[in-house]
Amino acid sequence: MFRATSRRTHDQGPAAEALRLVKVSKTYGSDDSAVTALDGVTLGLGRGTFTAVMGPSGSGKTTLLHCAAGLDRPDSGIVRVDGTELTGGGEAELTKFRRGRIGFVFQQYNLLETLTVAQNTVLPLKLAGQRVDRQRAKEVLTSVGLGDRLGHRPDQLSGGQRQRVAIARALVTEPRVIFADEPTGALDTRSARDVLRLLQQAVRVHGRTVVMVTHDPVAASYADSVLFLADGRLAGHLQAPTPDAVAERLAHLGDTVAMGV
Ligand SMILES: Nc1ncnc2c1ncn2[C@@H]1O[C@H](COP(=O)(O)OP(=O)(O)OP(=O)(O)O)[C@@H](O)[C@H]1O
Ligand SMILES: [Mg+2]
Repeated sequence: MFRATSRRTHDQGPAAEALRLVKVSKTYGSDDSAVTALDGVTLGLGRGTFTAVMGPSGSGKTTLLHCAAGLDRPDSGIVRVDGTELTGGGEAELTKFRRGRIGFVFQQYNLLETLTVAQNTVLPLKLAGQRVDRQRAKEVLTSVGLGDRLGHRPDQLSGGQRQRVAIARALVTEPRVIFADEPTGALDTRSARDVLRLLQQAVRVHGRTVVMVTHDPVAASYADSVLFLADGRLAGHLQAPTPDAVAERLAHLGDTVAMGV
């Protein structure tokens, strides 16, 4: 499986880059059914940046996020998070690294329905064997506007509130990099805006690095820059994105995107 080492790279000191991918490739299946989801992706993201990843359905966005977050392994290439290479150590080490340094937010929240909001939030700390502090749960839930919902179950919350719990869960370990895969995909405009502001705040106030997949040009405009993927390859880059500029660029990536997924 995917490997982690605690070895730091010497050339860049205390990791100026939050994320570095070098020629990362990933193919699913084999022979006739083989699909190249990522085809030699090389990129670097500085610390404290907010990057949106966009591209047509099937272009490899989720695969990119999973490989970068150590949730999946590339077939070849190098992934480095916060200066530590995820290719070279053991599985247990990777899991430990991921739990401490990486946060992940899914489109469908992935909360455990049998746990309370507070329990869901501190789960990563518990899994990492850290002392679980109710005050910490309260603090981080308050920061996402849910300080009064600690004892609720996920099914007593709206979609937007559930996603805010998921963000609290991703923030609780104070990770260096937060990956979010279409975090606003299932939300109404207002809840989406709340979630986007929280991600933006994680970057601007707390210096975290956020990488967010989205299909929505407005959501992408909250980021500092946008990376475009097409057929598993990088297909462009946009700084200081406005919704119009993003939509325009997407339209040129191919008709699939122009359909407005
Ligand atoms: N577990 C898997 N097994 C086989 N093929 C897969 C698997 N996961 C992804 N793929 C294929 O890899 C390609 C990239 O998929 P990926 O999920 O990364 O796309 P995406 O850009 O996230 O798409 P979407 O916008 O629809 O979420 C697709 O062709 C997909 O069918
Ligand atoms: Mg996807």
